[in-house]
Amino acid sequence: MKTLKTQVAIIGAGPSGLLLGQLLHNAGIQTLILERQSADYVQGRIRAGVLEQGMVDLLREAGVSRRMDAEGLVHDGFELALDGELTHIDLKTLTGGQSVMIYGQTEVTRDLMAARAAAGAVTLYEASNVQAHDLKTERPWVTFEHQGETFRLECDYVAGCDGFHGVARQSIPAESLSVFERVYPFGWLGILADTPPIHAELVYAKHARGFALCSMRSKTRSRYYLQVPVDESLEAWPDERFWDELKTRLPGPLAQRLVTGPSIEKSIAPLRSFVVEPMQYGRLFLLGDAAHIVPPTGAKGLNLAASDVSTLYRILLKVYREGRVDLLEKYSAICLRRVWKAERFSWWMTSMLHQFPEADGFSQRIAQSELEYFIHSQAGRQTIAENYVGLPYEAIE
Ligand code: APR
Ligand code: PHB
Repeated sequence: MKTLKTQVAIIGAGPSGLLLGQLLHNAGIQTLILERQSADYVQGRIRAGVLEQGMVDLLREAGVSRRMDAEGLVHDGFELALDGELTHIDLKTLTGGQSVMIYGQTEVTRDLMAARAAAGAVTLYEASNVQAHDLKTERPWVTFEHQGETFRLECDYVAGCDGFHGVARQSIPAESLSVFERVYPFGWLGILADTPPIHAELVYAKHARGFALCSMRSKTRSRYYLQVPVDESLEAWPDERFWDELKTRLPGPLAQRLVTGPSIEKSIAPLRSFVVEPMQYGRLFLLGDAAHIVPPTGAKGLNLAASDVSTLYRILLKVYREGRVDLLEKYSAICLRRVWKAERFSWWMTSMLHQFPEADGFSQRIAQSELEYFIHSQAGRQTIAENYVGLPYEAIE
């Protein structure tokens, strides 16, 4: 077995692992990233596309914002389409100047991979059988296999950035974790197409036949979603059926503007809320999807990964530079305060805008009335806006 050494061993080369790796590397803290998949596979995944200001700032701080700043689309608002009526949520005015950036996670990942390669920092792709050991000691280590050889990686800390199905969370004894979960009885069928977006801003539509979302990746690439039953099969949705159903769920004048075209990606994702507490076990820290999942309705998944990264990065900086080891045990509580607020908002947006097969007439009326109250009240719209642009990051002191 070959022995390697690093300061922070990072499991997973998704946005969490790559962004943490870049920030630490820039600060002179050594990292090694272990990724189960190939670089091409990681790069090919189509995921979210709305970045909060906090994440945009963090990408700038990490020195990986050049393309985002040139090609990303700043959105100062979005539309809610409720039973045929459009309501504009003016993010900028309602939040005193904040907005979001439309820039795909695929592009964020590409920029981070390029920056890491340019910096000469190592990511081992197709690393298998990753396992973390002695996490409760001051000398944790990680074993893995790579290109037919077995390695032992010695480190100070392990960052579990390996997503919902990763090994990091599973290496914590079950009795040390509490799991909070809600599974929704529907999924999102998503389509990517090289067609101009239907509208300059995102449109979130509530309709009796189910929720629909009109999003985009650029001025020439659209991303649309439809609420579908959780057990729906992709084969049941040829492009034409998708476009027809989308038009049905949008207000008439908007639907008329829809430009259709062949899909370049189509997939169904289940919706889930999930949080594990605490997000730390000894010298192992969980970040991003490894610790929490939100339904995509509030566009919070990627942004929560960024706030976890910011928190761990700022703590580790103070640990290495100022010996502030007292901060390590604060990681989980700091993250979870923000995580739960985003969980609440994502759950609320999901509950308000989707059709629930089990809902009785009373619950439907309550949801309808809650939504009407929110959109007709300045305070209500402000609440939606300040959550959508992203709640502030806590200072690390
Ligand atoms: N060993 C090594 N790597 C692993 C392992 C393992 N056992 N298990 C999973 N991985 C890798 C995955 O292949 C993936 O590349 O960890 C990475 C995790 O990346 P993501 O799932 O993208 O998670 P994260 O980096 O936390 O990104 C935040 O939030 O809502 C979502 O769309 C958003 O995917 C984004 C996520
Ligand atoms: C997306 O563009 O993929 C997207 C946008 C907003 C959401 C969810 C997904 O709320």
